[in-house]
Amino acid sequence: MVAAPMFLVSGPDLVIAASRSGILGAFPTTNCRTTADLDGWMGQISDAVGAEGRWAVNLITHRTNNRLADDLALVAEYQPPVVITALGSPRPVMETVKGYGGIVIADVIDLALARKAVAAGVDGLACVSTGAGGHTGHLSPFSFVSSVRRFFDGLVVVGGGIADGYALAGAVAAGADLAYVGTRFLATRESLAVPSYKQMVVDLGIDDIQVSAAVTGTPASWLAPSLHAAGYSDGDTAPPRNYDASDDPAKRWKDIWAAGQGLDSIDAVCSVDEVVDQMQMQYLSAIERLQRSTPTAAAAVR
Ligand SMILES: Cc1cc2nc3c(=O)[nH]c(=O)nc-3n(C[C@H](O)[C@H](O)[C@H](O)COP(=O)(O)O)c2cc1C
Repeated sequence: MVAAPMFLVSGPDLVIAASRSGILGAFPTTNCRTTADLDGWMGQISDAVGAEGRWAVNLITHRTNNRLADDLALVAEYQPPVVITALGSPRPVMETVKGYGGIVIADVIDLALARKAVAAGVDGLACVSTGAGGHTGHLSPFSFVSSVRRFFDGLVVVGGGIADGYALAGAVAAGADLAYVGTRFLATRESLAVPSYKQMVVDLGIDDIQVSAAVTGTPASWLAPSLHAAGYSDGDTAPPRNYDASDDPAKRWKDIWAAGQGLDSIDAVCSVDEVVDQMQMQYLSAIERLQRSTPTAAAAVR
């Protein structure tokens, strides 16, 4: 399982706790305002998890990211075992990351992007599907994995509404190697989300999610009450006039809270370790269920 990178939410505490729980922790480098801050975070994480620790950084490779070269220099220095690229081609990071033996995973939302990433030589694809929090996909996770598996035998990670161990088992049964899980970690003690955001995640459910492209220009999945509080109405295609989106994307993500369809699995704020334990129990029980159903299914086929 990957604790998926979340803007303004994933920091060193979440990444370190994820790594110590045996999963892959990740954070977007954009969570650091400056390269000096990023240097500090990467140093803190690599010291805490050690040489064998599993952690990842998420780099925005879109040409508008003018910090990419500086961030990449720190990647070369700290050598996170995994680099996840988003919102652009993975090509700019390939040489650096492959140079130190790291793994490159490209975040993709459709087959065209998946094929381009494979052509660029990535080790893995993070197939962001419908139901995902933040910038979301539109494909069914099952269909997406199935289509990708027809031409790619590398690492397949799938995300979108996976928030319990049953869904995790479903993803693996469908052909994925790993699940990309964001929303489930929003209401953890280690997340950087403010307390009222965490509480909303605990209190609300699947019907309270709204996908809108009006906030960032790209379809993203939000907690509807936070959208409404910022002055958005359902069906808006652009920011409302009374909302000052300014040029700073952090302002929007600070005011309006992203989450995916897995909300109903979250009943309380707890630690990353507790989430991983609970999901592991559910995963094992899903496997038992599959095993129990196998003879019946086999008999039915006969
Ligand atoms: C609050 C929030 C912020 C996010 N920020 C980022 C980001 O900065 N970069 C990125 O690649 N994905 C980001 N995502 C998407 C996640 O990495 C991941 O694709 C998604 O959370 C998986 O779906 P789930 O939320 O249903 O588990 C964000 C998701 C959330 C909920």
